[in-house]
Amino acid sequence: MELLHLSLVLLLISAQCFTSSLSDVSQQPKASALTVLEQTEDDVGKVEDGTVEDDLDPEDMEVFYPTSEWQTVKPGQAIPAGLHVRLNLETGKNEAKIPDDERGNSGLKYWKQGRRQGMVNTNSKSFTAEELKRALKLMKQEGNIEVEEDHQEKVRKTFRPIKELMKDFEAMNVMMETDMEIINKLIDKFNSTSATLEEKIGALYDLEYYVHQVDNAKHLVSTGGLQLVINALNATEPLIQEYAAFVLGSTLSGNPKVQIEAMEAGSLQKLLVLLATDHPVAVKKKALFALASILRHFPFAQQQFLKLGGLQVLRQLFQARGTESLHVRVMTLLYDMVMEKKLIQEDKDSSAQHKEKCRQYDEVNLLPPMLEQGWCVLVPKLLTSAEHDTREKVLKTMNLMMAACRDEYQALQDLTASLIMLRSEYENLAAEEQREGDQDGYFLGLLNSVNSIIQKLG
Ligand SMILES: *[C@@H]1O[C@H](CO)[C@@H](O)[C@H](O)[C@H]1NC(C)=O
Ligand SMILES: *[C@@H]1O[C@H](CO)[C@@H](O)[C@H](O)[C@H]1NC(C)=O
Repeated sequence: MELLHLSLVLLLISAQCFTSSLSDVSQQPKASALTVLEQTEDDVGKVEDGTVEDDLDPEDMEVFYPTSEWQTVKPGQAIPAGLHVRLNLETGKNEAKIPDDERGNSGLKYWKQGRRQGMVNTNSKSFTAEELKRALKLMKQEGNIEVEEDHQEKVRKTFRPIKELMKDFEAMNVMMETDMEIINKLIDKFNSTSATLEEKIGALYDLEYYVHQVDNAKHLVSTGGLQLVINALNATEPLIQEYAAFVLGSTLSGNPKVQIEAMEAGSLQKLLVLLATDHPVAVKKKALFALASILRHFPFAQQQFLKLGGLQVLRQLFQARGTESLHVRVMTLLYDMVMEKKLIQEDKDSSAQHKEKCRQYDEVNLLPPMLEQGWCVLVPKLLTSAEHDTREKVLKTMNLMMAACRDEYQALQDLTASLIMLRSEYENLAAEEQREGDQDGYFLGLLNSVNSIIQKLG
């Protein structure tokens, strides 16, 4: 039984049909994952509810709200699965909309974004009272399923409500397909020689949504879809490369089996080639995301990364002009790898499994070549960033490398002066933060980091 994601957010495109019978719904508290967005067409695109659950590439947090009209997708905006996506060749921008009636004739379309789903009526831009009543019923039942989503066994026992839901959907003339059926279709579409570039990119967009689930990712591997995606990393179209890397990165995230498969399929080499050669920044950004996903918690891949000269590739990327947005990501990736090994080594676990892990990490010698390649000097350069978030990462990385880099830090001409300036900036911000009763202490944390470095540099 394929678990269907039934979190349902009704996105109502039209307000006028909706006021009397449903006013009780729109007043429901926002505590649940369910929200009814009552919107006029002019409102579409505004987000009413800040609780977007999002496990995509962290940069792609902004939600795109689809309608039946083409709308420009802003850079970095995540697009819900199931949409029709095209590249506007005049503007060079991506556009997306809800597909024209391809599944039956009801005009009701579903879209998904993380745990959100929405429904839009593409025919009349309004729902009949009957459709709304049904949707409400679904939303009420959904409450139960949501809670039990983490416990697959329990969900199996609640088979009946899901079945009833399916019936409701069928009655609404909306076909619910299992994730695996959808993935098969997307793979076929992507693999089809007759599909246009836009259709292929659309298929990759949609796949990316599905592969976050471990079972779906495995399905992609077992049907040969992952190999197709990896092959597409060296496609001639940059957009295909970009979205293939995006799908690959999401498929790999936290999925050791798929990490192994992807290594065997040669994806590490391909990603490094993408990063080392001339490609648009957008392609490199996703390639870096996929690289981080394949390396994370996978010492064998980290070893191979070093053997293949991955560190030089990152260094080149870190120093290249026009890729400033990638520098922080590169540094974060290195920080994560150094930290990962450190945490494993510091763990006092005495099990055989842990010993084996330590043995594997012993063979990942990242720090010596990092020092050789001058990372001690490279990292502090990012301190000039105006972004607190970037500075935070630089400070963390500098602290992590302090023991090895202390002499080189001390020899850096302007470093002490920059640190003292940062200290005074964060003293002020931390004081303000405290006055405002902000418990988070974000700036205080930054201040402590700066102070710690100043002190160690003595
Ligand atoms: C892709 O298409 C080719 C040629 O039609 C076919 O042989 C192959 O099995 C397809 N791959 C997948 C994963 O569907
Ligand atoms: C990508 O590289 C593989 C070999 O690594 C090759 O078989 C395939 O044809 C290449 N694809 C394209 C589109 O160049």
